[in-house]
Amino acid sequence: MTTAKNQVHLPSCDHNPTEYSDLDRNSVLALRREYVAPATFCYYNQPIQIVEGYMQYLWDDTGKRYLDAIAGVASVNVGHSHPRIVKAVREQVGKLVHTTSVFLHPNAVRLAEQLASRFPDDSELKVSCFTNSGSEATDFATLMARVHTGQFDIISLRNGYHGGTQTAMGLTAMGNWKYPLPQAFGVKHATPAYCYRCPYGLEYPSCDVKCARDVAQLIDYETSGKIAGFLAEPIQGAGGVIDPPDEYFPIVYDIVRSHGGLCISDEVQTGFARTGDNFWGFDGKGVTPDVVTMAKGIANGAPLGAVTTTPAIADCMAQKLHFNTFAGNPISTIQGLMTLEIIDSDDLLSNAKIVGQYLKDRLIDLQGKHALIGDVRGRGLMLGVELVRDRKSKEPATKETAIVHEAAKGRCVLIGKGGVYGNVLRIKPPLCITREDVDFLIDVLDNVFTDTGQ
Ligand SMILES: Cc1ncc(COP(=O)(O)O)c(C=O)c1O
Repeated sequence: MTTAKNQVHLPSCDHNPTEYSDLDRNSVLALRREYVAPATFCYYNQPIQIVEGYMQYLWDDTGKRYLDAIAGVASVNVGHSHPRIVKAVREQVGKLVHTTSVFLHPNAVRLAEQLASRFPDDSELKVSCFTNSGSEATDFATLMARVHTGQFDIISLRNGYHGGTQTAMGLTAMGNWKYPLPQAFGVKHATPAYCYRCPYGLEYPSCDVKCARDVAQLIDYETSGKIAGFLAEPIQGAGGVIDPPDEYFPIVYDIVRSHGGLCISDEVQTGFARTGDNFWGFDGKGVTPDVVTMAKGIANGAPLGAVTTTPAIADCMAQKLHFNTFAGNPISTIQGLMTLEIIDSDDLLSNAKIVGQYLKDRLIDLQGKHALIGDVRGRGLMLGVELVRDRKSKEPATKETAIVHEAAKGRCVLIGKGGVYGNVLRIKPPLCITREDVDFLIDVLDNVFTDTGQ
């Protein structure tokens, strides 16, 4: 039970939410149960209805305010309903919503130009193809790698998540996201650098990054020796924030390229300043990919994705027609343009680094206090807290994680949950979060761990 002593309060906020007068939570839940296909799921035993957002805060239909520490799953990087995005989108909606890419429009080309400017100067990453989602970006990048190389086999990593379409599901290697149908045709899953649970039972650095070196064996044994590519997240998101050691990607990229494959970085979660040190996740890993997939943070919550690559690689797609009705639509691309502008003007990369490190340090302090916390990891504002029943056996504390997750909601903090065992708290707030918000989040978690007997 919460006592007066451990009651903590959300930092103040000068936004007044509009009075909500539409369907209440129970009515929406009932309609959802009746009319929405059950493949979609809700967080919490008592799902909440979010009806308004402002920067790092959300409001439910009763007017209760929450600190958003999941940001629409690492999507709302610059904050909910950022006033400059609202203004630009309103203006665009009033002028033109949709025509498709068979007509010219300035927004999409400007965004493609802006994306090109975010890649390393010495890279050829320059041309983009827009999609509506990360899954479509995964599909398009896979298709392009196969067409360009004339090879079929793609390597992805166990514990990775790349989307829910059939190709993306095949590249995904977390059983809880896979239906029992063939979907991984031509996909080989390599061992991830999940050091906390090393599948080889080794320790870093004496392991000599065996998981990276084993990619060569995987190719030798399971493919013709020539591959189309390697697709991986620089830091696995849904898999529970798995951040490989520095040597991992340079070793794997060399192996992949020596077998004719393209290196594809899935930046759907790690892109757009999320990891604090760099704009892209790969930047912090000592490699430059041949193809980059992105979505989520690209347009701060609008349905937009993209695949960026070199003109030489992209060229192969011109031999056939490719069309995607809504991709690069004027509304989502104006949101994308404003998002990039705000990441710069609000200096969100620095905030992600500084506040992210502060949050990580405070989580590590909590680990010293609560035995349930087995590991704290991640970079910038992409952090994971793995909960275990016993620090030695590392038995996943799946049930306890659900309790903590739900109890944090009761105290106005919304966090994510992930990992193949559902035992990792995923903390990925809007990048505008403050130190005061972090103090509140930590106090809530501290109280939740104590009060739920964890
Ligand atoms: C790393 C990664 N790639 C791809 C996707 C798929 O994106 P979407 O849900 O927009 O299809 C996700 C979604 O969570 C993701 O986390």
